[in-house]
Amino acid sequence: MNKFLVIGNPIDHSLSPKLHNYWMEKNNINAIYEKEKLDSKNLQNFISNIRNKNIRGANVTVPFKKEVIPYLDKLTPDAEATQSVNTILLDNEDKIIGHNTDIGGFENAIRFTKYDFKKKKVFLLGAGGVVPSIIFALNKMRAFSITLSNRTKKKAEDLQKFSNEKMLKKNKQSEIGVVNWGVIPEFDIVINATSVELNNNQKLDLDFSNIGKNKFFYDVIYNPKETKFLKTGKDLGNQTENGKKMFIYQAAEAFKLWHNIQPEINEEVIELLD
Ligand code: ATR
Repeated sequence: MNKFLVIGNPIDHSLSPKLHNYWMEKNNINAIYEKEKLDSKNLQNFISNIRNKNIRGANVTVPFKKEVIPYLDKLTPDAEATQSVNTILLDNEDKIIGHNTDIGGFENAIRFTKYDFKKKKVFLLGAGGVVPSIIFALNKMRAFSITLSNRTKKKAEDLQKFSNEKMLKKNKQSEIGVVNWGVIPEFDIVINATSVELNNNQKLDLDFSNIGKNKFFYDVIYNPKETKFLKTGKDLGNQTENGKKMFIYQAAEAFKLWHNIQPEINEEVIELLD
């Protein structure tokens, strides 16, 4: 039976197997999708298993989205630009290709909210694995500015430099700034891409009480469904959205790449992940 895999560390929380196995069953695809916790030292062996077709395709999550790149034969332009791979595929010429479906996942999720990001000021929290893809997508959506803030400021500054000098160099639409952790700049949209509420019962130590009205709070996290960050946004009277649709859309794009079938996204799929 054909096998697909998501790799990461930690990986326990991943709902990718649930979603992909559901869609494979719906589409009568005789295959299985599993999750595997890896260490960096196992990456090479993992890629060999794709090359020799023991594994037919894979998703890659934190912390390997960048680390996996040296082992691949080719990257798509989006994966190359962001230096981030979340989907791996063996093509017809037996070349191992790294794709980035997080970008499309975020874009489609935002399209679904009907909130127009064009010319908006975005405040982006965190500097981890998914952030380059979000910056890339925001720039495509022509956000006016993206202000980065990360507990470890150096990582935000490195991302700013990477964005300006490499990732967005060819088509820069958005100004990229950095503020100290704890500083709240003027914004229309705030995106939480930190793992704070994923890992423990902690809360972001940021004060949003003076931000004004009609803002949009987006959280990459979808489990819990409503983080304290989103609850704060809602209680202050703002629009909110969690990361569930981003997760579903990135998975749908990966599914299409592997199986050449566009999986259906409906209420049943959305509830499956609750
Ligand atoms: P990685 O950093 O390995 O790519 P990630 O889950 O993608 O992992 O990113 C975790 C993000 O959450 C980072 O931006 C991290 O900030 P640091 O770079 O300073 O580590 C952020 N984060 C985690 N715990 C945090 C906390 N208690 N307060 C603020 N930010 C936190």
